[in-house]
Amino acid sequence: MLNETKVVGLPLSRIDGPLKVSGGAKYAADHGGHGMLHGYAVPATVATGRIVEIETGLAERFPGVIKIYTHENRPKTSEDDDKWKDAVALPGHPFRPLENDRILYDGQPIALVVAESFEAARDAASLVRVRYVAEEPHTDLGREQRRSYVPPQPRKEEFVPPEPRGNPQGAFADAPFKISSEYRLEGEYHNPMELFASTALWEEDGFLTIHDKTQGSQNSHDYVCNVFGLDPEKVTVKNSFVGGAFGSGLRPKHQLFFAVMAALDLKQSVKVEMSRREMFYLTWRPATIQTVSLAADREGRLLSVMHHALQATSRYEDYQENVVNWAGLAYKCDNVRLSYELAELDVSTPGDMRAPGAATGVTALEMAMDELAYEVGIDPVELRLRNFATRDQNQDKQFTSKALDACYREGAARFGWNSRSFTPRSMRDGNDLVGWGMATGIWEATIMPAEAKVRLSAGGKAAVSAAASDIGTGTYTVLGQVAAEVLGVPLDDVTVLIGDSSLPKTGVEGGSWTAASSGSAVQAASGAVRNTLLKHAKSMPNSPFGQASQDEVTLAEGRLVLDRNHQVGVSIGDIMDAAGVSFIEEHGKVAPDQEQAKKFISYTHSAVFVEVKLDEELGVTRVTRVVSAVAGGRVLNPKTARSQILGGVVMGIGMALHEEGMVDHRTGRIMNHNIAEYHMPAHADVEDIEVIFVHEDDDKVSPLGAKGLGEIGIIGVAAAVSNAIFHATGKRIRHFPITIDKIL
Ligand code: MOS
Repeated sequence: MLNETKVVGLPLSRIDGPLKVSGGAKYAADHGGHGMLHGYAVPATVATGRIVEIETGLAERFPGVIKIYTHENRPKTSEDDDKWKDAVALPGHPFRPLENDRILYDGQPIALVVAESFEAARDAASLVRVRYVAEEPHTDLGREQRRSYVPPQPRKEEFVPPEPRGNPQGAFADAPFKISSEYRLEGEYHNPMELFASTALWEEDGFLTIHDKTQGSQNSHDYVCNVFGLDPEKVTVKNSFVGGAFGSGLRPKHQLFFAVMAALDLKQSVKVEMSRREMFYLTWRPATIQTVSLAADREGRLLSVMHHALQATSRYEDYQENVVNWAGLAYKCDNVRLSYELAELDVSTPGDMRAPGAATGVTALEMAMDELAYEVGIDPVELRLRNFATRDQNQDKQFTSKALDACYREGAARFGWNSRSFTPRSMRDGNDLVGWGMATGIWEATIMPAEAKVRLSAGGKAAVSAAASDIGTGTYTVLGQVAAEVLGVPLDDVTVLIGDSSLPKTGVEGGSWTAASSGSAVQAASGAVRNTLLKHAKSMPNSPFGQASQDEVTLAEGRLVLDRNHQVGVSIGDIMDAAGVSFIEEHGKVAPDQEQAKKFISYTHSAVFVEVKLDEELGVTRVTRVVSAVAGGRVLNPKTARSQILGGVVMGIGMALHEEGMVDHRTGRIMNHNIAEYHMPAHADVEDIEVIFVHEDDDKVSPLGAKGLGEIGIIGVAAAVSNAIFHATGKRIRHFPITIDKIL
């Protein structure tokens, strides 16, 4: 099909940008007006134990307080375990606010104060007195290693390590070059800019409209309907704008439960907002302790790969991610053993955080690869090229595309890798040691079932709608671009309506699958609009389209035209007039291709190159340069795509150098639950980052040919930073984050 109006692939600015920067975009807490009640949660101050007594009298007498909810007076909810399981729930017993007197983690919400103002609710919350019987907390993953276990019920089959192949132990024992190292990654917290909030608007006849900070309005919708036994037709959840989430918003959080609970009970609108401190209690990227053992022959060809991970979970759910399986598919190797275990801690259930599993597992693997390169004595890029995998050996499947070799080549060229000297401590800039390190990134490229609706009016205006979310990724813009391209209209003439549970079905926005999935659904719906136009056009008297098939026509500049000769065509308005309609609206739908999945598998790849400059006397490391070369299939919008990679790289710098959840293991309490003490990269920590998208054609990964780009940006970055620090200093630091004390 010929494209006259090329919109997909252009570096366009976000169509929602002006609203966002002018304050016109309303987030979950920005809704509601007069008469709104406000809820504030009271967090537990022990990590494990029981509540003996909650004394609410003082708080209840505080001016403006309406009602205080505790486990003793909580309104009834569903008793059925399954009703509490949201679409991305885990094996186990989902957390239920105010279920009973049991404390499972530090900061667990144990009461909700509802008052006439936010300030009154917050102040009264501080007057709730609680007596606990505290138990001894277990929050140190290192100490719980002895109680590790293989999760009995997998979260997803793909997360289960494959059976060992070949003879990994034997091959390791006999190999001329080998390394075996342990890597420790401390827990991290998501910290999106927008705090969790839900505004439940109580309407006549039991209707509820809820503005929720979530990565999936339909997931929140189904959750509250199930838990409170509500009529799904009477509840709408909206998430028009989401100020970041990084996975923390995949599952419904307690503020949603509280807002709905109180609204139903009091028959009034209720808003519940969290504080920054509470954001640390909700969920986290779990700490891991990993061992990677690699062996190679004299040419650096891998003879054995063994990767074991121990990962934290909570007492009540088995949170699982794919940490180790990457090691069995990243490089060609016939002797592989992968294993994955959990240990329960007295913490809140961990959750997906940008590139869950890969961000930790690939980090360990890529540090190990660097160690092996130095053991064998060959360049780290060369080592990876010598072990390039052309097939996923875990699943014995073919890649739909893999331009990772181009990532290595183009990334290295842009970075200037060739002028790197191999020996550690051999590069300097004045007083600073200079280190250059690199790593590979891999993430799964998938599509999820998604639907969309597209409407084209006789006047040439288009409207796209789907329940899809835009968590800052650019969903609004790319969905608009896809419709504009197929319908041949300018992007300005397309309105995009998303973030609403009543719109066509879409899964949660996660896993880097939204652009490929919802984008393909919009493409299908737009194509269906064009086909309907063609059908109508053919019924017109003296129709120029004769026997023209759907593949032979295009929409361009308000006309339906023949591909082979654009002179032959009819205006959209005339076609609709003749058909007696003022608009055409069609549905589109996509789902993963099961037949294809038996033979093929898709991944997004990257090669990350990092320069650090390090003042050895002060132990201060600066990441002065990063080149991230990404193979992500067809890039729908290079501007929003680049922005995703930049954000991922920044988060990777945080993971490498700064971000560390600190828990006092004597009390099991989080010590640095604020963004002053939990340091994320600030402007001064981020210097030069360059993003390259290498050419990659993929006609199988998704109907659009796009792979996801939301997560690949972070993967490998922390490893590349660590490898660069080794190159600068000769010191291998295997414990993240790499803070000053570890360098000195
Ligand atoms: Mo992503 S961690 O699936 O939002």
